Amino acid sequence: MSPFLLTRTLPEDATDAALRADVLNGLTGSPKTLPPKWFYDAHGSELFEQITELPEYYPTRAEREILITRAGEIAAATRARTLVELGSGSSDKTRHLLDALTDLHTYVPVDVSESALTQAGQSLVAERPGLSVHALIADFTASLVLPDTPGPRLVAFLGGTIGNLLPAERAVFLTSIRSLLSPGDALLLGTDLVKDEKVLVEAYDDAAGVTAAFNKNVLSVVNRELHADFDPDAYDHVALWDPENEWIEMRLRSRAEQTVKIPALDLAVDFAEGEELRTEVSAKFRKDGVRAELDAVGLELARWWTDEAGRFALSLSVAR
Ligand code: SAH
Ligand code: AVI
Repeated sequence: MSPFLLTRTLPEDATDAALRADVLNGLTGSPKTLPPKWFYDAHGSELFEQITELPEYYPTRAEREILITRAGEIAAATRARTLVELGSGSSDKTRHLLDALTDLHTYVPVDVSESALTQAGQSLVAERPGLSVHALIADFTASLVLPDTPGPRLVAFLGGTIGNLLPAERAVFLTSIRSLLSPGDALLLGTDLVKDEKVLVEAYDDAAGVTAAFNKNVLSVVNRELHADFDPDAYDHVALWDPENEWIEMRLRSRAEQTVKIPALDLAVDFAEGEELRTEVSAKFRKDGVRAELDAVGLELARWWTDEAGRFALSLSVAR
């Protein structure tokens, strides 16, 4: 069988320190917030996979449609020997790219979810003799050190996950991605597009309640890791469209006045009845905006593809 390497780029106590800092800052600020990367423990990663199958959640199907149609063009344009994928999760859609990239030497999936990386990596090496997989447990918003593998390098960031970063975070993030690329290397970026509000809100508030469970899972993560006593049932899942910022916001709304204890931080957090905790933004994009953000960091938009229904875009940009 071909090699599967899993490298933890940050020691476990650094992850713990990052969670403590995020919870302390986020729950003592106003309004209260938590960053979305903490959704993805093993259960959260599993819930996200269920979301991708929901009738209301179109982005995964739309992006897969584009990848199936365009993987050959992507391979021909990039001739990538190393594919780095940020926030790779199950690497499921990536298989269409892996099939097309005939010169590929190493696939480098990068994720905070160790369970997702292990499952995906082990099945990929079993399916594809000859492919080397070097998975990194890492935060893609922190500076990444990639393994020394042959170029050209293609960095893929699929699923619309870039929309889960705030605009200022996106600029910092894109600058750091550009620094991983040599001139001629490429970025393959999935971006969900602005569309009818009802379609968007339903995608984040599905009838079966899977997205609600995913949203509340962040409270279970804080309970387990920091011994907090959040009662997930004491919060309602909220998904709303912010037309000014053109993003979906997920929140958890406290059903009653309550105090949550977080012993690991020696902290008690008061929630008023109806008070909301923002857990995620999911920005939706337009072509000109994506082009401008890429251009600002030295990436030139070379190709822009959408699914037939025009819901989701995949762009290929090249480092200058
Ligand atoms: N790319 C896949 C999965 C998207 S879900 C798809 O398109 O279906 C988002 C993924 O990003 C999850 O696997 C999550 O664990 C990971 N993730 C979220 N924030 C992260 C961060 N800051 N650093 C690394 N991975 C992150
Ligand atoms: C991972 N990311 C692109 C998803 C999104 O659509 O913003 C996360 C998600 N949140 C709720 N549903 C799915």
